[in-house]
Amino acid sequence: MGIRGIDELCEELKIKRTSALAGGGEKAVARQKEKGKGTARERALKLLDPGSFVEIDEFVTHRCVNFGLEKTKPLGDGVVTGWGTIDGRRVFVFSQDFTVLGGSLGEKHADKICKVMDMALEMGCPLIGVNDSGGARIQEAVDSLNGYGKIFFRNTISSGVIPQISVIMGPTAGGAVYSPALTDFVFMVEGSGIMHITGPAVIKAVTGEEVTSEELGGADTHNMKSGNAHFKAKSEDECFAQVRRLLSYLPSNNLDDAPFVETRDSVERMDMRLREIVPTNPNKAYDVHGVLELVLDDGIFTETQAEWAKNIVTGYGRVGGRSVGIIANQARVMAGCLDIDASDKASRFIRHCDAFNLPIVTFVDVPGYLPGVTQELGGIIRHGAKLLYAYSEATVPLVTVILRKAYGGAYLAMSSKALGADLVMAWPQAEIAVMGAEGAANIVFKREIEASPDPGGTRLEKIDEYRSAFATPYVAAERGFVDRVIMPEETRRELWLALCGMESKKVGRPSKKHGVIPH
Ligand code: HXC
Repeated sequence: MGIRGIDELCEELKIKRTSALAGGGEKAVARQKEKGKGTARERALKLLDPGSFVEIDEFVTHRCVNFGLEKTKPLGDGVVTGWGTIDGRRVFVFSQDFTVLGGSLGEKHADKICKVMDMALEMGCPLIGVNDSGGARIQEAVDSLNGYGKIFFRNTISSGVIPQISVIMGPTAGGAVYSPALTDFVFMVEGSGIMHITGPAVIKAVTGEEVTSEELGGADTHNMKSGNAHFKAKSEDECFAQVRRLLSYLPSNNLDDAPFVETRDSVERMDMRLREIVPTNPNKAYDVHGVLELVLDDGIFTETQAEWAKNIVTGYGRVGGRSVGIIANQARVMAGCLDIDASDKASRFIRHCDAFNLPIVTFVDVPGYLPGVTQELGGIIRHGAKLLYAYSEATVPLVTVILRKAYGGAYLAMSSKALGADLVMAWPQAEIAVMGAEGAANIVFKREIEASPDPGGTRLEKIDEYRSAFATPYVAAERGFVDRVIMPEETRRELWLALCGMESKKVGRPSKKHGVIPH
């Protein structure tokens, strides 16, 4: 053919580029669209700032010669990879292309993902993976499995160094689900995102149970029942907006600061409505979101796992422009008791905040750990211990606001002074005690109540006596377990002062390889 001129060579490159851009071809793209799904490149472009996407490895192909696969060598091998920016900050991405061999993962597909994972770690930038895949590429057999293993390894090594986000916009089956599970946050799109280890057909064959794919692994299932996902979106566009919003609270890596977001909401703002939200009667329910919205910048709270373990609320907000992680008991659900799921949810959230240097603000209104045989046999002891472990281990600023009840072991678990809280504040209606006034009076004054000619009346008297003596913030404040007793309306300013005061916090821990968190 001889030596070709530059124009011809460029023409060849253009043809190759066009071929790579075509993905799995018109028919496969049309099928993808019929399902309401975007293509892999469209998704990357929608996620990132306009014009910022830089694609790499678009000419990578597999080298498999099994089952006739050598006859189909699509450029890019079923995954689009590269980097771009979100709100001007660099992120690395991979987006699986279902139109190419069902987005299945073979050796080179995995190598492409590993390459951007390595780059994200080295550059200290978040990694976002869009999952839409038939799983291990069957023709590539063990090479495919090895590819997954290499991804899991990198997910683990990057954990706590860069934020890792998984977006589920199609099937994610078999061992493939373990990469999302190893990342920090899982976003799912309703109707298209599916995650399960074994599908309905295998389950029917093995256990005889009948279940649909959606019931087993859809967005509702993982957001409401299993706790495997953290966010749910009605559409791909909504999902990308959620990812971008979440990233706005997080630093790019564990050594960077989270973005500062200017606000006109004065840190001096006092809101008298805070006096009304939390009833002084400890048996009355309320929605703790009301407190968060009146305290945080511009009333904005971004909740994680909003539909699972609703008895505890976790998420992000800002105080005076700075990101904070929020944990709050939800009195409206199971009276805010701690149970297995709530302990798992909160302890992982604490560890994430700690890894990425976000101060943690804890709002406490907790009557205790949930009693029950199911809880005990389910391992509430080890699950509940995670919460103690996570708070004790955390070295970021820990600020606690006791809104009302803080009883017994749950008082300790919810960011108490003894576990390392830097500043514990309490509202005037706070009751910090071993248990509620009624239960305590029944035990402590049992004999007097029984001997009384009017047991009912004496009981009420004794409850009152106990309540005014012990069900207050002042006994704990006398001991220094509560640093400040504050008016509800002062909370925003007090939080700001506390966070400023703790900003330079540096604490050491004994040197060790790693601890052994209860699981
Ligand atoms: C190779 C695959 C594939 C796979 C899909 N395709 N999955 N090719 N390996 N795993 C191909 C199909 O042959 C088809 O090719 C194209 O992708 C589109 O697939 P369809 O079946 O037409 O699409 P749809 O009807 O939407 O069904 C999607 C699906 C189904 C539910 C994902 O394809 C499916 O069940 N695939 C197999 C899933 C699976 O068992 N994977 C292995 C899991 S085990 P053509 O040429 O016809 O367009 C696993 C272990 C990982 O992943 C372990 C890690 C430790």
